[in-house]
Amino acid sequence: MPGALDHESPVLARLFALGATGAMETAGEQGPETLAYFPEELPLDLEGAWESVDEVDYVRAYREGLEAVRVGPLVIAPTHRHPALQAGEQVVWLDPATAFGTGHHETTRLALAALSDLDLVGRSVLDVGAGSGILAIAADRLGAASALGVDVDAATVPVARANAALNRSRARFLEGSLDHPALPRTFDVVVANLYAEVHVTLMAAYLERVVPGGRLLLTGVLARLSHLVERALPAGAVPRLRHEGEWVLVEVEVPR
Ligand SMILES: C[S@@+](CC[C@H](N)C(=O)[O-])C[C@H]1O[C@@H](n2cnc3c(N)ncnc32)[C@H](O)[C@@H]1O
Repeated sequence: MPGALDHESPVLARLFALGATGAMETAGEQGPETLAYFPEELPLDLEGAWESVDEVDYVRAYREGLEAVRVGPLVIAPTHRHPALQAGEQVVWLDPATAFGTGHHETTRLALAALSDLDLVGRSVLDVGAGSGILAIAADRLGAASALGVDVDAATVPVARANAALNRSRARFLEGSLDHPALPRTFDVVVANLYAEVHVTLMAAYLERVVPGGRLLLTGVLARLSHLVERALPAGAVPRLRHEGEWVLVEVEVPR
């Protein structure tokens, strides 16, 4: 659904709330465009046009071209590759399915790198917007005491659980978000790969879920929009920014 939409507005949050199963921002010939994927055409009150997309061909082409991705000690590999592991490397098997997250997107890699740089041994990790489950499964591989993923898209949950089973991972997945009633009250680390505007909306809910002194890792943020996320952080928080291409991860230790 291409359209010249205002990137400073909470349009992406709106699109997901309206049932989008994915969305991204592109340069576009006429200026910035937002592409959102819906399972069917809906009567939306937004500027733009509908275009039908052949999902099956895309997935097949994508699968065939996939290579293993190395981030810190993690090697994210589709099951048809057999990467030779160096000392200290750990493999996470992940086949592309309908859920986002194979390690090939900059934002996923930024989150994997940030998780790899933390000492997760004995820590609890919440992955908000788990998609394929890659971040929670990686956190479990990195020694987290518990790793839990939540996603508002019900279709992702069986995919993430299947990926956890494939990896013999203890990571668990639930349909929902930060307000899920079964969530433990707080976590040592909360990681989320969503969008700048969504992070701003969810900031208070994130902060309620991180222990004082714990870490908040927020990616899916275009560099030109990172100021929105930084502005929404609590007073006294000193963000560290990691960049890959046009994407940023904002990392912050939650003030005690
Ligand atoms: C970009 S994918 C991230 C997947 C994976 N964590 C990764 O880093 O590759 C974002 C996921 O967040 C989910 N999502 C969007 N808004 C959400 C919200 N408010 N709470 C929980 N999940 C959300 C979407 O359904 C989607 O699966």
